[in-house]
Amino acid sequence: MSSQKLTAIVFGAGARTGRGIADGLLAAGYNVTAVSRSITESEDLAKGALNIKADLSDLASIKGVFEKTKKLLGTPNIVIHNAWASVTPKADDWFSQDLTEMQKAYNTNSLSVLVAAQEAVAGFETLPASAPQLFIYVGNMQNVSAFPSPGFVALGMGKSATSYLIWAASQNFESKGYKFYFVDERTPDGGAVYGDIDAKAHTELFLSLAKGDNTVPWHATFVKGKGYVKFPNSIV
Ligand SMILES: NC(=O)c1ccc[n+]([C@@H]2O[C@H](COP(=O)([O-])OP(=O)(O)OC[C@H]3O[C@@H](n4cnc5c(N)ncnc54)[C@H](OP(=O)(O)O)[C@@H]3O)[C@@H](O)[C@H]2O)c1
Repeated sequence: MSSQKLTAIVFGAGARTGRGIADGLLAAGYNVTAVSRSITESEDLAKGALNIKADLSDLASIKGVFEKTKKLLGTPNIVIHNAWASVTPKADDWFSQDLTEMQKAYNTNSLSVLVAAQEAVAGFETLPASAPQLFIYVGNMQNVSAFPSPGFVALGMGKSATSYLIWAASQNFESKGYKFYFVDERTPDGGAVYGDIDAKAHTELFLSLAKGDNTVPWHATFVKGKGYVKFPNSIV
């Protein structure tokens, strides 16, 4: 175990954003645990890289990710939740969602964030106050804007609920110095980036936050190449 390096966990280490964030943090010198359901499990302790298979819809699986990370890499300084789930309606109907699927999606989009935050804070309590202590949720603009499609209901419910959690946690833990962010990459005119989401831009923002950038509020709306931008619908 390397006690000199900072440690991060990336939940949802997928091809488009999460894996790139994990690799970016590794390149920046972090120990990194990457998590997804289909990841190939591996341990490269010389490099500080762990891949752990876990399903966030199974809330009980989250504790084990923290335990293994702490044991092999160190207590996480940065916990990033980047996983998302949607539910495809049976027909083009707002209320045709399968409830079992909705519950699983809600676990992935929201309740797993609460459990990961509980574990993250338990770890932060043991870190020196000078060390970075950040919890980052990768969101989108559904906490401030409704997308007119039944296929987005599950994701939007999760993003909105988690936005509240991050907002409340950012206030509650402010005095302890634990930072909570709901990160939302936008186009320069404030729109959703959809498939153009950029892993490198996220990593750059996260590294800057970890270095103590205090100019970014919990609702971290940002633009690639610019950093934090306050838009008319940014909550703070
Ligand atoms: N700002 C915007 O406009 C915008 C645009 C696009 C996306 N986003 C957000 O950005 C984040 C990343 O999205 P992305 O599309 O780029 O995804 P991604 O980083 O390519 O991958 C996310 C990964 O999460 C994993 N995952 C999903 N459900 C999981 C579960 N139950 N347990 C464990 N892992 C799970 C999936 O891997 P497995 O299948 O292997 O589990 C998936 O590959 C999401 O939060 C998304 O909502 C925002």
